[in-house]
Amino acid sequence: MRFLMLALITFAACGKGDEPPGPTTGVPGAPTESGPKPHGTPADEIARGIFGSKCVACHGFEGKGDGPAAESLQPRPRDYTDTKWQASVTDEDLKKTIVLGGKGVGKSPLMPGNPDLANKPEVVEGLIKIIRGFAKK
Ligand code: HEC
Repeated sequence: MRFLMLALITFAACGKGDEPPGPTTGVPGAPTESGPKPHGTPADEIARGIFGSKCVACHGFEGKGDGPAAESLQPRPRDYTDTKWQASVTDEDLKKTIVLGGKGVGKSPLMPGNPDLANKPEVVEGLIKIIRGFAKK
């Protein structure tokens, strides 16, 4: 019993964080959460991550609708480099399609919705920026 008490006390003391930081923390160049972000806002970073992991499969790295999973889709995702199409849709249209999915806006249900982004407008905006960025210059 006495041993157990000691062990508990030692454990609790460790959890308090009153030990000095080890020699490996604060190494220059080590990746940190709060380090300077070279591009855009944190929400833009998140959006880039989402696009790279979730959207590229269908929409393609260059937004041309030629991702590896797009081949079998009917209709296929459109070509985001098409400036005429870019001019024909509003950011609000894009936002709705991204959050509600194709089903929610009368488009193909193959375009999945992202209800988790409904309360993250800044991330949706980041995604819209990415889509707008594919337009041919
Ligand atoms: C499983 C394949 C698939 C994935 C994954 C996917 N999409 Fe789509 N997306 C589509 C298809 C297919 C359409 C075309 C729907 C149509 O035209 O009826 C589409 C359409 C869209 C549109 C509307 C474009 C227009 O025609 O007005 C937007 C915006 C869009 N996707 C954004 C995204 C974003 C952002 C992601 C990632 C979060 C994503 N999509 C993930 C298949 C996909």
